[in-house]
Amino acid sequence: MAKITGNFSMACIHAAILYVYVMTVANAARVMPVHPYMQAQEKPISNIFDTSKYGILQVGNGLANTPQMGWNSWNYFACDINEKVIKETADALISTGLAKLGYIYVNIDDCWSETSRDSEGQLIPDSKSFPSGIKDLADYVHSKGLKLGIYSDAGAFTCQERPGSLKHEYDDAALFASWGVDYLKYDNCFNLGIEPEKRYPPMRDAINATGRTIFYSLCEWGENDPALWAGKIGNSWRTTNDINDSWASMTEIVDINDKWAPYAGPGGWNDPDMLEVGNGGMTYQEYRAHFSIWALMKAPLLVGCDVRNMTAETFEIISNEEVIAVNQDALGVQGRKVLAYGPEGCYQIWAGPLSRHRLAVALWNRCSKIATITAKWDSIGLESSISVSVRDLWKHEFISSNSMSSFSARVDAHACEMYIFTPTMAIHSVT
Ligand SMILES: *[C@@H]1O[C@H](CO)[C@@H](O)[C@H](O)[C@H]1NC(C)=O
Ligand SMILES: *[C@@H]1O[C@H](CO)[C@@H](O)[C@H](O)[C@H]1NC(C)=O
Ligand SMILES: *[C@@H]1O[C@H](CO)[C@@H](O)[C@H](O)[C@H]1NC(C)=O
Repeated sequence: MAKITGNFSMACIHAAILYVYVMTVANAARVMPVHPYMQAQEKPISNIFDTSKYGILQVGNGLANTPQMGWNSWNYFACDINEKVIKETADALISTGLAKLGYIYVNIDDCWSETSRDSEGQLIPDSKSFPSGIKDLADYVHSKGLKLGIYSDAGAFTCQERPGSLKHEYDDAALFASWGVDYLKYDNCFNLGIEPEKRYPPMRDAINATGRTIFYSLCEWGENDPALWAGKIGNSWRTTNDINDSWASMTEIVDINDKWAPYAGPGGWNDPDMLEVGNGGMTYQEYRAHFSIWALMKAPLLVGCDVRNMTAETFEIISNEEVIAVNQDALGVQGRKVLAYGPEGCYQIWAGPLSRHRLAVALWNRCSKIATITAKWDSIGLESSISVSVRDLWKHEFISSNSMSSFSARVDAHACEMYIFTPTMAIHSVT
């Protein structure tokens, strides 16, 4: 701690006291201060204010204060990638304005390397698809103000049978750093049955030893419940198997990821996998739900479509600044499912606290028929006497200035409406 000298304003002293308080609490857990306007919910599925399993900024590389945003090659291109696609994607992130909205990581997934190492044991970029090498690509991406991500595997081989980094962590991390790589997705194939708690830390240490700041994304598929241990190792950890471009996969993954909400926070996020928006397997409403819930869950927003060739609908979804702002909110608390009722629990209310005492609320109709969904204040942790303004994040307008005790909306089949509730201070008197 810094030595305290000279004159301190009251603000500084308060800040210092708060700092000590936060750090003391943080070492055990981060417990959200409950604002006078808000309270824990009655019989919640999940208390939206529970952040008790979160350990503050554990990796210490200074990254991931908010969930990472960018693009990844896998969901659309799989192995069919090359340096032209990556460069054109970087260009498209700029020309479409997506980069300005925060999508800055350009992440190459599997298949960028040759199928064996060189005579010195180093990884080599595929000479047909990446003839100019990764350093050249990183320079290009950096020249656009973007960041470059690469992929390897905590096993003998990658999933597409390129050389893995297990037992080569220091060489490979040094190579990535020398190329100017900013992000590493680290997969789980061919892991020789060695437990992930042993396979993932060496790459963290190897990256750290390079001295280059590199985002470390663990892709362990949620097998050994990484939320329980990965906060000390990486900036994000996959909580599930791979997503596929279907309603069934997306909804299954969302429910698994939800379970780990109290463990996420600035510096380390639960990762329910990359976005499928724009790949064609879901309807407009389903993709909007996918994007809304990913944002609310503080999931990484890694676009997985071909951004060089998006439909207007795809662009509308992934460029929704108000939904992105929920994802990137400074408070960094993962929103979660707070109520499921109706047929098979398919009328769902998802919510999470935001900075400045606001709440993000999603009404999600997972049934196959249109329905009215109602969020009562006690289910989302608002005091019964509170009045809120309601901002509709898809209509981009305030639809109510003083909702009290509950809020309802007609929600289409598979659609998800998303709102920000802001307590109306003038009406409430704190007792
Ligand atoms: C390496 O780890 C230490 C301890 O967490 C941290 O302070 C430092 O910033 C890290 N360096 C890099 C380059 O990530
Ligand atoms: C996609 O995921 C769902 C849910 O896990 C599964 O039922 C389906 O078979 C998967 N589809 C493909 C093509 O892998
Ligand atoms: C662009 O996307 C449309 C579908 O939205 C597809 O039919 C077309 O083939 C794509 N064009 C290219 C060049 O990939």
